[in-house]
Amino acid sequence: MAFLEVQDLTLYYDTHRGPLRAVDRVSFSLEKGEALGIVGESGCGKSSIALALIRVLPKNVHTYTGSVRLDGRELLSLSDEEFRRQIRWRKISMAFQGAMNVLNPVLKVGYQIAEPLLEDGQIPKEKAFSRVKEILKLVGLPPETAERFPHELSGGMKQRVVLATALVFNPHLVILDEPTSALDVSVQAQIMNLLKRLKSELGLTFVFITHDIALASDLCDRLGIAYAGQLAEEGPVEEILQRPTHPYTQGLLESMPLLRSDKPPSFIPGAPPGLTDPPKGCRFAPRCPYAFARCEQPPPPFVTTNRSRAFCWLLAEQRTLTPPVPSPYTGRAREGSRKSRAG
Ligand SMILES: Nc1ncnc2c1ncn2[C@@H]1O[C@H](COP(=O)(O)OP(=O)(O)O)[C@@H](O)[C@H]1O
Ligand SMILES: [Mg+2]
Repeated sequence: MAFLEVQDLTLYYDTHRGPLRAVDRVSFSLEKGEALGIVGESGCGKSSIALALIRVLPKNVHTYTGSVRLDGRELLSLSDEEFRRQIRWRKISMAFQGAMNVLNPVLKVGYQIAEPLLEDGQIPKEKAFSRVKEILKLVGLPPETAERFPHELSGGMKQRVVLATALVFNPHLVILDEPTSALDVSVQAQIMNLLKRLKSELGLTFVFITHDIALASDLCDRLGIAYAGQLAEEGPVEEILQRPTHPYTQGLLESMPLLRSDKPPSFIPGAPPGLTDPPKGCRFAPRCPYAFARCEQPPPPFVTTNRSRAFCWLLAEQRTLTPPVPSPYTGRAREGSRKSRAG
């Protein structure tokens, strides 16, 4: 059994237009020390997956079901109180999207990192503050940072503080929701290096959420390609980049500008569906150049290789088990579309 096993995780929100299916039967598994990148466009449910994993749910939850097993233990059957006391921050922690901009402006950084330890009440104050120094060092900040206020820090330093708050209880699984999106590229690279170091030195398991597939592939062992509240495809990073099987993944990769290519990046026409009334079958079908009659039914997961799965009816037709469209990462010219091969 894998360290983290997520099965059919579902989170719907109540809205005046009916239930909004932000997370719809999302499944993946992750070994200890691995990182999964969840990649997708804005609004496709990435943050909602994270909130469902750490059970920080807004008031208007409509449905919250599925299974999350961490180290063999089912978490969805725990009461809110059990989850709060035993799991959140201790076993699973999270750096929330935009958190660096909502650090409390009137509290010193050290106090903000120590706060959950102090609230816990089980550690004396001095010990909590020595833990703060330790953790600041771990994220590459000098111990004096504890005495400073958020406005005295740069963006990169603030993001390191956010990471420190997530690491203070030595969690096993850390969820990072767009941790570098607000930073400029060189600072982004420093944070990515820090994450790689934490992964190898502490053996942390990460769920890394981003809209940037290149960034995800820099850190992650596996990728989940999110589309309209679901994962369209999920598997080892090399397989997804070199042999994407889902047409959405292919479109996403082809939309990325490449350093050495005379081919301009293409884009996927249309827009993702609304999540209160998504297509009944494959959610990507209305935008998919390969859609055919069967796509009106929801596709089951097709195992494409040992450790990857894609939700696409084309895989039921033998023709597409090895997709004819090479990834832009291989640098080779496109060898012809699926459609022409299939037809
Ligand atoms: N509390 C909420 N109530 C209703 N809809 C929400 C709520 N939070 C998010 N949504 C909607 O859920 C969908 C997924 O949002 P989100 O998980 O934030 O996506 P992402 O992180 O990929 O941008 C979006 O359509 C968003 O508008
Ligand atoms: Mg988000």
